[in-house]
Parts: sequence; C-alpha cells; structure tokens
Amino acid sequence: MEFSIKQGSPEKLRSGCVVLGVFEGGKLAEAAQALDKAAQHYLSDIIAHGDMTGKKASTLLLHKVPNIQSERVLLLGLGKRDEFGTRQYLDAVRAAMRALQYTGAKDAILFLAELPIKGKKSAHAWCISQAVLAAFETAYRFDRLKSKADKDKKSLRKIYFGLLSSKQDAALDTALTQAVAIAQGINLTKDLGNLPGNVCTPGYLAQQALTLAKEHKSVKTTVLEEKDMHKLGMGSLLSVTRGSSEPAKLITLEYRGGDKKQKPVVLVGKGVTFDTGGISLKPGAEMDEMKYDMCGAASVLGTLQAVAEIGLKLNVVGIIPACENMPAGNATKPGDIVTSMSGQTIEILNTDAEGRLILCDALTYAAKFEPDTVVDIATLTGACIIALGHVASGLYSNQDALAQELLAAGEQTQDRAWHMPLWDEYQPQLDSNFADMQNIGGRAGGSITAACFLARFTKDYRWAHLDIAGTAWKSGKDKGATGRPVPLLTQYLINCAGKK
Ligand code: BES
Ligand code: MN
Ligand code: ZN
Repeated sequence: MEFSIKQGSPEKLRSGCVVLGVFEGGKLAEAAQALDKAAQHYLSDIIAHGDMTGKKASTLLLHKVPNIQSERVLLLGLGKRDEFGTRQYLDAVRAAMRALQYTGAKDAILFLAELPIKGKKSAHAWCISQAVLAAFETAYRFDRLKSKADKDKKSLRKIYFGLLSSKQDAALDTALTQAVAIAQGINLTKDLGNLPGNVCTPGYLAQQALTLAKEHKSVKTTVLEEKDMHKLGMGSLLSVTRGSSEPAKLITLEYRGGDKKQKPVVLVGKGVTFDTGGISLKPGAEMDEMKYDMCGAASVLGTLQAVAEIGLKLNVVGIIPACENMPAGNATKPGDIVTSMSGQTIEILNTDAEGRLILCDALTYAAKFEPDTVVDIATLTGACIIALGHVASGLYSNQDALAQELLAAGEQTQDRAWHMPLWDEYQPQLDSNFADMQNIGGRAGGSITAACFLARFTKDYRWAHLDIAGTAWKSGKDKGATGRPVPLLTQYLINCAGKK
C-alpha cells in the first residue's frame, strides 16, 4: 500500500473514491460541503431522503456523483459533532478502511485529517498517522500457512490524504513516513506472534534478527549460544530451557543512529517461543495461545525495524532471550535453586513463572551496554489480564519521569499503558526460606510481584517494564497477535530522539 498527501478541493481531485464525513443529524463536514456545492446538492439530497444519518461509523457508497472527478463517494458517519473525539475518529476511520476494501476502487482520497477533534489542537499529523495504522490493520492477513491463500484480491493500492485548507508541510510528511514504518513494524510483530511454535523457534527468531541486520546496514546482530550463556553465568535463563530440545538463543541487535558516545536505549523482549509451563504444566484448554509468549521479543524486532526504517538519530539496542519452556526428564523441578548472572540465587517454586527467569539474566546482561534507559517487554502474567483486561498494558518503572514518558507515547499512539505500583511493601512476597528470593509471590498482586522480581535486577539503571499479557494478542474467534506495543515503543524512541 502507498500513501501520500494532496492539497486541493475534493470535487477536483481524481481518485477511485473520495471519502467524506457526515455528522449526526446530516451535517456535512467542511470538505463534504465543498463537494456538495459542486455536485449541486447531490449529497444533501441523499441525506434529506434519510439514507445517511451520520450515525457513527456508518458508511454509504455513491457512484456517478455529478460534476466531480472521482468515480465514487464514500460518505462516512461521524456521530455527534460535539462528541467527536479521538475514539470516534478511530472508529470512523476504521469503518472507512473496511468499506473501501469492498469497493473496486484502486485508490482513494480521504478528507478526514482536518476534522475538528475534541480536545486536540491541530491534530492533522495525528489523524494521518492513525489512518495509516487503520489501513494496515484492515489489510492485514495471515494466510501463509494455508495451502490456498485467500483469493479475493483487494484492489485498493493507494491512499491519499486530502487537505482542503491547511498547507502540506514537512511535519505531515514526517508523520506519514513514521506511521508507515510503525505499521510495517506492527506487521512483522504480528507475523512472528501468529507463527506456531514449531516454526517460530528460538533459532527462527535469531534468523529474523540476522535478516533485519542484512536489510539495514545500521543494525548489527549477534547471537549467543547456550555455551556462551554458561560462560556468562546465566543459570536462571538456562534453567528454563533445560527441558527443551530447541537450543536457546540470546539475540542482540544494535542500532547505531545517534552519536557514538550517546548511551543507548535498551529494549529487552521476552522470547518464550512456547510456554507449556514446564513441570508446573499448564492446563490443556487454550494452551495453543502460549505460542504468543514471544510477543515481547517480536515487539523488539518490530520496533527496531521501524526505527531503522525511519533512520532515527538515536542509539537503540534490542536484547532477546529466546527459549522454550518444556517439561522433560531433565527439566527444572519446583524447589530447584539456581544462580542468576547477577549472583543472586532463586528458588523456582513454579516453573511456569519462567518469563522473569529469562528476563532477569537478560536485564543483568543489558548493563554491558551502559544504557541510558532499559525497557523490558513481556507477556509476563495472567494476573495482568485480570487487572487491566485487554485494553492497557501494565507499566512499572523505578523512575516516575520514565513512566510518564512511556504513558505519553502510549497516549499519542492510542497504544495505552497504565502505571502500576512497584512499592517495597510488595517485596516480602518474594522472600524464600532457602535462597535469596523465590520466583513467585502468591496470588495477590501477581503482575506486581512479577515486576518486583525484575526490579531486583535493575537497580543500576533507569528501567521500565511493560506487562503485555493482555494486549499482545486477541483471543476468541478473531484470535491473533495485535502488534502492540510497537506503536508505544517506537513513539517513545521518536520522542527521545527529538530531545537529543
Ligand atoms: N506466559 C505466561 C503469562 C500469561 C498467561 C500470558 C496467560 C498470557 C496469558 C507466564 O509465563 C506465566 O505462566 N505466568 C504465570 C505466573 C504464575 C505461575 C506466578 C501466570 O500468570 O499464571
Ligand atoms: Mn509461564
Ligand atoms: Zn510465559
């Protein structure tokens, strides 16, 4: 799909379909009024007949509208004008993208970027970015493992964003390129998440990281093997992979876009390519969904791809501990005690709390890059889904300012997180009778105690943790990876680069 910005009046621009907004009560948005005038009130007549009321996210496709250059007009209901905010815009733009898919139009021009959005001043760039994400979202298919790919070829190839009154400036072009890069990063993350555990193994993730380095000169990938991890003393990470026949990998991607001396932002992504629970075996129902337990890793790859594609002037390092969590004769048992790379010992009371065991060693390893900031991303706890559902990712940080920056990036991209407590009062839940700590803290506050566990390994730098168990994929009939939190992470890095 291609995108570009065009300035002009909607009746004069040529396209397969021009998309125009109508508010509830039949009030035409500004661009629609302009076209209506040229078309001698063709649109207002239709509205007067009651065929388009402006009900939010409704659509009406019209052919052969007189006196205009486009083949079709798609009227898009926006709902009540005084309620038209970011949510309403997103619902409307998604409805438009869906409706366009079912037309024969090869290209379309959307006059939606100048709509007045409640609570947002001059939101043109934001409107364009979100429309790009919506276009990719509706076009996304994962059919590479079906023997016959989906036949109904979509004809839509090109989307223009029409501007009626505002100037097409560099800021809008930047927003557009960045949004396309983020959308492609999301697609990579979704693909990796959707691939089954027998295809997307730790070795497969390593291959992906190497491919990324091949495609972008600015990215350097290194892959450590289990013997290297032994040498580094990663007893915690290695305890998780013991029962698996797939070799674990520790993948590092270094993107150098900033000054040589500038300290990098390090992203650490949980890459459990399948989580059976190990000896603390999970119940059978929906266990297939544990193929998504590498979505943290996938979001690191997606974000690095986006960052490299944008050419961001910032140093970013991605670290991916990748392995499987399997039961076996030699697998780690409840009660086993291991020594992490940090030297701290861990009593493993539940082998299903494995994410924190691989992350703690990766987080210790991260210090080697002298980070400015470290953010880890993990499908860490079912408890986070209970706390926040599938709407917000759980955000924890040892620095409030960092938490605020991440929250803001999530707000900007509508990929939201919620700030959770990381108070010392929760730490005693991890006390062990036999080791420095145990790997579970009981049922109460399960997402928080998981974060508290990680906090014990991140004292030396600015750190945040995103629990994406509820946001990385959708269950049910439309099950699949969402590509979150690639938008949040990439926007955060864009904002960081802007400050430097
Ligand atoms: N990968 C899971 C977390 C998870 C569960 C993500 C369900 C998405 C949906 C993680 O490794 C895990 O099993 N966590 C346990 C921790 C518990 C044993 C303390 C959990 O959440 O049940
Ligand atoms: Mn688990
Ligand atoms: Zn897991």
